[in-house]
Amino acid sequence: VMFMMQKQSSEPIVYDDEQKGLNQQIVIYFSHVVAENTPKGLAAQKFAQLVEEKTNGRVKVEVFPNGSLYSDEEEIDALLRGDVQMIAPSVSKVTQLIPEWQVLDLPFIFENYGDVEKVFTGEVGKNLLAMLERKGIKGLALWGNGFKQMTSNRHPLVEPSDFSSLKFRVMPSEVIERQFQLLGAKPIVVPFNRVYESLEKHEFDGQENTISNIYSKSFYQFQPYLTISNHGYLGYAVMVNKVFWDHLPKDIQEKMMEAMQETTAWNLTQSKEQNEEELAQMKQNPRMHIYELTEKERETWKQKFMPLYQEFEREFGSGLLRQIKKAE
Ligand code: LMR
Repeated sequence: VMFMMQKQSSEPIVYDDEQKGLNQQIVIYFSHVVAENTPKGLAAQKFAQLVEEKTNGRVKVEVFPNGSLYSDEEEIDALLRGDVQMIAPSVSKVTQLIPEWQVLDLPFIFENYGDVEKVFTGEVGKNLLAMLERKGIKGLALWGNGFKQMTSNRHPLVEPSDFSSLKFRVMPSEVIERQFQLLGAKPIVVPFNRVYESLEKHEFDGQENTISNIYSKSFYQFQPYLTISNHGYLGYAVMVNKVFWDHLPKDIQEKMMEAMQETTAWNLTQSKEQNEEELAQMKQNPRMHIYELTEKERETWKQKFMPLYQEFEREFGSGLLRQIKKAE
């Protein structure tokens, strides 16, 4: 079996089973769509550094942020083709490959960061990652960004009726689309790379995202109304092309897994802090109107979203939902 990897200079290194690149450097392209100074951007850099240290430079992870190699619409196909070895798309974007993963997009499935950590790093996370294998993907870990908040250029979003007939940018995920339909809004799928530009052109009225994404990509400039709703969680599936992974020497795989575990533990704490710090920054901005939902208002939203749980169970059964509730 031949395997080809692109080096930065773009001349390929070719390995076969005998050589397995024992003396050659293995270069891994890691492509993602967010800014460098974000939970995912920083975790990618940390992983690259740890891998380089642990393998004494035998493996080099080259990180490409900001969608500079591939947009989120393209990155999964690029991984499957082997044009890039590693990506970390949001869980929502993976639902197109593995529809059961929609469970993680159900609004209010996680109450707090502790719940997220138990699910992401425990048995459920392992089972979810194992589902990727049937698609030719090796899932290494689930990383976190943070809870999603709602923003708008129109008015404060407090009652479900405030969403009525507003156009919302969404990630490609059926549960998320249904969530906005239940609110009477119009969901429109837009790749992350185009969100800033579409907000600037007023192509839609609102969007949901983490504080870190809203802050690092300056979405707030065009979306002065921010509601702290924590209604959904934005997590990432860190994945590698399976053919590429299976051809790595065993000791390299082990070192990479070690680096991944350390990075994941760090990321789950760092992401929480970063979102908190950047919210504090945005609170200083006199042009922002930030509203935090009360418990009672959160309850109203939860009731509104109940049908999504029933729809999910009808389609996929209650197994995954029960596993998650048990882990939390
Ligand atoms: C989005 O599309 O809003 C996010 O999934 C981007 C990201 O990777 O955090």
